[in-house]
Amino acid sequence: MASSLPDTMRAVVQTGPGKATVESVPMPKVEHGSALIKLDTSLVHSNVAHIFKADHDMFQLPYPIIPGSFGIGRIAALGPDATTLQEGQLVMVSSLIRARDDPSVNVIRGVFAGFTPESQHLYKTLARSGFFAEYVPAPLENIYRLDETRLLGSPQVGGLGYTTGELVVLSANAIVYASMRSIALQPGERVIVTPATGHYSTAAVDVAVALGARVIAASRSAAGLARLKETYPDAVETVQLTGDIKTDGIALGAFGPVDAIVDVSPPAATGATNFAAALSVLRERGRVTLVGGREDETLPIPYLKAMINNWTIKGSYMYSREDLEGIVRLAEAGLMKLGKRAGHVVHGVYSLDDFLAAIDKAVEMAGPGALVYIKP
Ligand SMILES: NC(=O)c1ccc[n+]([C@@H]2O[C@H](COP(=O)([O-])OP(=O)(O)OC[C@H]3O[C@@H](n4cnc5c(N)ncnc54)[C@H](OP(=O)(O)O)[C@@H]3O)[C@@H](O)[C@H]2O)c1
Repeated sequence: MASSLPDTMRAVVQTGPGKATVESVPMPKVEHGSALIKLDTSLVHSNVAHIFKADHDMFQLPYPIIPGSFGIGRIAALGPDATTLQEGQLVMVSSLIRARDDPSVNVIRGVFAGFTPESQHLYKTLARSGFFAEYVPAPLENIYRLDETRLLGSPQVGGLGYTTGELVVLSANAIVYASMRSIALQPGERVIVTPATGHYSTAAVDVAVALGARVIAASRSAAGLARLKETYPDAVETVQLTGDIKTDGIALGAFGPVDAIVDVSPPAATGATNFAAALSVLRERGRVTLVGGREDETLPIPYLKAMINNWTIKGSYMYSREDLEGIVRLAEAGLMKLGKRAGHVVHGVYSLDDFLAAIDKAVEMAGPGALVYIKP
């Protein structure tokens, strides 16, 4: 397949915040330690609009870049040192790239170039080429093989019957899975996921259920919560938050002791009361993982209560290779629901030329399990 690769590919080329066109660009080179993936499906989620417009300092990228942060595709060409991967295999490509000479230096392709000269250098040299393209180059260690027969195969022959578009949530699922692993969430434990209706927080509900936890989904959106309850009538309880800590605390505590909290609040929830309400019912030796993007300089954590109750409060950023391998295993085992089984709905499938419409659709339809993707 590698020998038949064209010299150029089509890609969205972004030259500044909100400025991009579809162009023909040179085909990325495959060198030692890397592979080239022919993309089948590229994720478009609601946050891409913020990233595309760079409306937050963290989304300023060293343009020109090719946007897009996650995708599923097939290996089109492999560097000479690849040992196990093979051309033609269905794979997902993670976008967290770590510098090989200093893994603490890292960037997220299509999202975040870091604030240090080292991370900016890494972005410019390894991460400029994102997933809104026909092909994406990737370090070999960023590639994860997917069991095509199991994931895409028909249920009549033991497959799970997913489409590749239904697999684009795997990146979000891996991020929240990493956060739950970091607090050792156990089967049977009761966990509050708050909020519960965004791209990442819905993923948190899907993953917590897959891990066997009893989930309390705490969010403001009645419609979003109703959808979660419909998908998981036994495993998920829902609490529609009012914003009043006492009222919400009583509602959250009504199901029994709460072992853990997964907070996935976005920047818009800075200063919101959902986290304080959840903390108000956390049990002794309870654990908290902070995986969202609130921008508070301080959080309402009662010092004495945290000390007396031996609470663990952990931040969680992205994932490790083990987390990604684990999330693929959970999907392939069928323990973690995806696609229609998880109540996810495909709201739009777009070509590269229509990437702006894809971004608009992702914003318009943002909500639990809303899927929008590009077929390059
Ligand atoms: N740790 C990591 O490595 C990592 C990786 C990727 C993303 N993230 C972060 O994860 C966060 C969540 O992402 P997302 O895409 O799920 O976010 P989102 O879709 O923007 O928002 C999620 C939910 O937040 C609730 N919300 C919005 N405004 C609120 C407010 N003013 N007060 C209270 N709740 C509010 C809404 O639910 P209701 O209306 O139902 O309350 C909304 O559905 C982002 O900040 C993202 O940066 C972290």
